[in-house]
Amino acid sequence: MTSRTLVLLKPDAVRRGLIGEIIGRIERKAGWSISALDMRTLDQDTLEQHYGEHKGKPFYEPLVEFMASGPVVALVVEGERVIEGVRALAGATDPLAANPGSVRGDFGVIVRENLIHASDSEESAERELKIFFPGRF
Ligand code: PPS
Repeated sequence: MTSRTLVLLKPDAVRRGLIGEIIGRIERKAGWSISALDMRTLDQDTLEQHYGEHKGKPFYEPLVEFMASGPVVALVVEGERVIEGVRALAGATDPLAANPGSVRGDFGVIVRENLIHASDSEESAERELKIFFPGRF
């Protein structure tokens, strides 16, 4: 079944010049396509909407501060098994636990700076698409 997902290339990925590397991995997956793409610095309101479910957790404030520290690239990816597929391509949250070959496993070290966000379910994807691309999905 074809679906779509929201992907964010986080400020560390942009600062380190890894946009092309990560998007290239996504584009090379058979049948996947990028249907929207935008580079922007996220405001507090957007970050609260996006990460609201984690408010109160110890990592929330540092995560939001980090995510506002520079531009991100937001993209919508469509295709077969794309939600689970991009999560697999990203790797585990902690880069040291992520498989080599995954984005986080290949390029990450610390948990906060883990390069990429990908929606974790169909419900999350639809919610997140509305936050980042209102009126388009
Ligand atoms: S939870 O509590 O299991 O739901 O959290 P998890 O799904 O693992 O992560 C939710 C998002 O928080 C980020 N995260 C962190 N950021 C900074 N520091 C620490 N320690 C940390 N732990 C988790 C994690 O990368 C998730 O962000 P996204 O943007 O979805 O990757």
